[in-house]
Amino acid sequence: MSLAVKSFRHGLGARGRPAGLATLARARFSTAQALRADIDASPLQPGKQKSKTGTLPPYGPVGVAAALEALPDHPAKPTLFSHEFALTDRVALVSGANRGLGLEMAMALAEAGARAVYCVDLPKQPGPEWTKVKEYLSRMTGLQGEGRLEYVSVDVTDQEAIWKVGETIGDREGRMDACIAAAGILKPHTDCLKYPAKQFQEVMNVNVNGVLFTAQAAGRQMRRFGNGGSITLIASMSGSITNRGEPWVSYNTSKSAVLQMARSMACELGPERIRVNTLSPGHIYTHMTAQFVDKNPGLVEKWSDLNPMGRIGRPDELRGVVTWLASDASTFCTGSDMIVDGGHRAW
Ligand SMILES: NC(=O)c1ccc[n+]([C@@H]2O[C@H](COP(=O)([O-])OP(=O)(O)OC[C@H]3O[C@@H](n4cnc5c(N)ncnc54)[C@H](O)[C@@H]3O)[C@@H](O)[C@H]2O)c1
Repeated sequence: MSLAVKSFRHGLGARGRPAGLATLARARFSTAQALRADIDASPLQPGKQKSKTGTLPPYGPVGVAAALEALPDHPAKPTLFSHEFALTDRVALVSGANRGLGLEMAMALAEAGARAVYCVDLPKQPGPEWTKVKEYLSRMTGLQGEGRLEYVSVDVTDQEAIWKVGETIGDREGRMDACIAAAGILKPHTDCLKYPAKQFQEVMNVNVNGVLFTAQAAGRQMRRFGNGGSITLIASMSGSITNRGEPWVSYNTSKSAVLQMARSMACELGPERIRVNTLSPGHIYTHMTAQFVDKNPGLVEKWSDLNPMGRIGRPDELRGVVTWLASDASTFCTGSDMIVDGGHRAW
């Protein structure tokens, strides 16, 4: 801070005597100049940011950069939820979204402002949970976007079919911005030394090939429209640890593959502003896990005891992280794994 600024702050002349009017006016002038010079020199100044970090989002600078650029009479408005986290007019594809985590995530994207979220799953017709969510969204007030859910029946292991779904969405909507590959399967306990080839291939086919084909279907459209995009592959904490007492060699192997798939794709697609990350949930209560915990008394307590929160998770506890990953709030995040497991891996 310059001497003039310090002296002005304390209302004193340079020798410590009370400042006269002329001295104060001079000090005020040099203070304004000094502050302006400081702001112009700041690395947070929008012009400087742009020259070092590439183009800013279409809505311009946000945060400190917006404050530095603003004129004193310019209205100051929050942007965090209206711009960075908002998915206004975006189009998304979510696999496994007839129910469970996929449906929860599809709803979150719609609620965050997406124009349309295409939910891909196996059944020919969507189930009652999906239908109820679509109806609920259609009468939700205060949405920033259209919030339209669409259902498409397709098997994600059929590469040609899921690519075609991506193309049809691209043709219809003229864009593709976000993808969540959530379709996955988990088979009952099987001894790893007796694991049948067919069952192992089945798990790998859905959890690895299907995830790749889904990411391709959306990524090819992101490349076509050139707006970048965000792809989130749903892995699991089981991709980096083994669930104690659960012989799930095929599932765990498939989820490890998903972690590495995301890193590889992120490195290839970064220059096209297509980000690829994984989300690794811990134990969450869905149809997938209900098949174990509802039939095995004491299992939910055992799983709960494996994390410091002392409980298993709810699907809605993943709404924030998937919205963040799909949105501009995470534009510098790619090739990363988000672990949301109640602290399971901290122990
Ligand atoms: N629930 C958990 O505790 C948990 C934890 C970590 C990771 N995950 C992962 O989250 C994802 C969603 O799991 P969930 O708990 O919601 O399970 P879920 O069984 O409720 O949902 C999975 C959905 O994927 C669909 N699906 C399966 N095979 C498909 C295929 N070939 N083509 C299209 N859709 C297909 C199913 O029909 C189902 O609707 C999975 O990848 C799972 O491995 C779940």
